[in-house]
Amino acid sequence: MTSLSIQPTDGPVGAFVSGIDLADAPDPATAAALRTALGKHGVLFFRDQTLTPEAHIAFAQTLAPIVINRFFTPVDGYPNIAEVRKEADQKTNIGGAWHADHSYDQIPAMGSILVAKELPPEGGDTLFAGMYAAHDSLPADIRDRIAGLRALHSSRHVFGADADHRKDPDVDTGDRYHNARAATQDVWHPMVIRHPLSGRKSLYVNPDFTVQIDGLPQAESDALLALLFEHAKRPEHIYRFEWEPGSIALWDNRATWHMALNDYHGHRRLMHRITLAGVGLEG
Ligand code: OGA
Ligand code: MN
Repeated sequence: MTSLSIQPTDGPVGAFVSGIDLADAPDPATAAALRTALGKHGVLFFRDQTLTPEAHIAFAQTLAPIVINRFFTPVDGYPNIAEVRKEADQKTNIGGAWHADHSYDQIPAMGSILVAKELPPEGGDTLFAGMYAAHDSLPADIRDRIAGLRALHSSRHVFGADADHRKDPDVDTGDRYHNARAATQDVWHPMVIRHPLSGRKSLYVNPDFTVQIDGLPQAESDALLALLFEHAKRPEHIYRFEWEPGSIALWDNRATWHMALNDYHGHRRLMHRITLAGVGLEG
């Protein structure tokens, strides 16, 4: 057993984990403690780690089975690691809008483990927004209104053959995405879920993938989603994580949103991501 230390950030979401070397896969008791901490804090940050792709995979497998993202180009030789890359001559980054990974899946991914491989000299931080706080701080009438409602999540407009970015000549996604034909599934999820690890209520809609509220005319649905998105991304719900060489972020997609800042044009940024399998979501 390692001497794990978990220190909440000074923000509304996230904690720093120390006293652990992830080059060796955590033992079951440590993995259980990390899962519990993840459900509580929404995102865990690790510093000064050296993680080979093999160790990244081994770490992931102690937490949950790996799910392969069907749209991201994988790291060469590692089909279960997605490459999150922006080249010096590219303008568009991956994950540059607020989202929760895989919410468009029937059984959305529990979380993701992102490992810094090459960082720009400055910038390239990631923002995290806490969806427990976003839910709990909603005005009571809105909270009551969305309790029991479902919303539709889709990947079509992001990864599909007619995705928005394919129509914009200024968007240079290069060879990052593939398999557009897989972007045909849509799914209804409760707008407020009971978090599978913590039991807390969490707001489960996100700007990138949530497109419609069940039973409302489109205009009303759009207005209510816009209100929820504006509320959830208020500064008091956000923590800004600054990457350093050796940093790792492990986030829970059911308790947080994230967004990659795109403020380092002219420099390369390369990350490796493994996605962790989740469970069906209930309100
Ligand atoms: C992701 C993602 C954010 C970042 O890998 O899912 O959104 O900061 N990345 O690279
Ligand atoms: Mn993401």
